[in-house]
Amino acid sequence: MNVYDTEKIYAFLQDSYVPAASSEEADVIILNTCSIREKAEQKVYSLLGRFKPLKAAKPNLLIGIGGCVAQQEGERILSRSPVVDFVFGTHNVDELPLLLEERIRYGKRICRVREDTGTVPTSDAPRVMGPKGATSLLTIMKGCDNYCAYCVVPLVRGREVSRRATEILDEAVFLVEKGVREITLLGQNVNSYHDPDTGAGFVSLLESMELLPGLERLRFVTSHPKDFSAELAHAMADLSTVCEHIHLPVQAGSDRVLAAMKRGYTSRQYMEKIEALTKLIPEVEFTTDIIVGFPGEEREDFEHTMDLLKEVSYQNAFSFRFSPRPGTAAAAMEDPVDAEVKRPWLPELQDLQNQITAERHLNMVGREVEVLVEGVDKKKSDLLEGRTRNNYIVHFPGDPALTGQLVRVKLANSRTIHLIGEMVH
Ligand code: 5AD
Ligand code: SF4
Repeated sequence: MNVYDTEKIYAFLQDSYVPAASSEEADVIILNTCSIREKAEQKVYSLLGRFKPLKAAKPNLLIGIGGCVAQQEGERILSRSPVVDFVFGTHNVDELPLLLEERIRYGKRICRVREDTGTVPTSDAPRVMGPKGATSLLTIMKGCDNYCAYCVVPLVRGREVSRRATEILDEAVFLVEKGVREITLLGQNVNSYHDPDTGAGFVSLLESMELLPGLERLRFVTSHPKDFSAELAHAMADLSTVCEHIHLPVQAGSDRVLAAMKRGYTSRQYMEKIEALTKLIPEVEFTTDIIVGFPGEEREDFEHTMDLLKEVSYQNAFSFRFSPRPGTAAAAMEDPVDAEVKRPWLPELQDLQNQITAERHLNMVGREVEVLVEGVDKKKSDLLEGRTRNNYIVHFPGDPALTGQLVRVKLANSRTIHLIGEMVH
């Protein structure tokens, strides 16, 4: 979501500014911030510390803070960090050009953090920047109404509002015309998408996207397991553009913890969705998010999460230590379980997942797969990098001019989180 929003920030500023090669060369530095966990928030303040000497060397340098930390902290950022010139909230991105002009003209520090109005966003940015490669993100909704006990998103992103399908399709056509072959639709809970004009739901949006000439692949994040419907599972199986991968954050394997998190499903119900999808789409791969050490989580609960990891056999899992966030229900919960007792659980879970991830990758060796070439491998520039439909990253020798094309690759080797192969001609 933040990557997409940063692209929007660029788009809003492109009439007056060009991207700088480094912070040292920049006249304006904007941090688009995340407050999902405390660590992300701390990074903002440590980065600001690093900008201090830049500001001393170049007094006209402007530093701005946007995103979720800005929405959450507002004026407090200005009092805490003298180097910050302006702060803008998650609902104020469109004001950025004016805000910058105001700051330059009048010299006063500015904080613009609007309350969420819950209105349907209209074409929220000029799109002339254009996508950079063969894949692109596309936001279809903002906010979230779920209020999971640990989560700050509803507080900083506001109520759930869907964009008009006509605007989404317009943006998709623009992206495809610029060479995009794969689009990832973004929302905190895409399953509850509905077109504000017609009321049509997410599956119907997928069906419209399927008809776009030139669009090869369609992905979407995030699906909330409680809302993941049989209809969507069938659409995934039937629509040829929709890829055989689903990110389905489970968060925990213990029903007691899931209830405390207010997730709205049990581990059994979650497993039934996994099983149904596997039946419909044999090639399907699953990824997930896990929170370890939720208030009151005991060793036994944690072991249920470990069991679930094995049962699903995820391609990959993003796992985090629970981090209390201001204003959330979980931040006020008592935790009788000692933090020191919980400390080793996260690395233990990550070890297990790394093993499972390695096994799944090894299991792909010998197969021939379709890869969308995304560009050259950043670490080894003599190799190309791409992804299979079911989300495996593949590296292979080839001409960089193939970027944006679908090629066939025979997989020869696995490297834990990517595969190595040779093109098949
Ligand atoms: N502490 C730890 N992890 C969190 N996430 C969201 N809120 C918190 C929190 N307070 C994780 C969830 C979510 C992912 C984006 O971040 O796993 O799915
Ligand atoms: Fe946060 Fe839950 Fe909404 Fe996801 S569904 S953004 S975890 S409140």
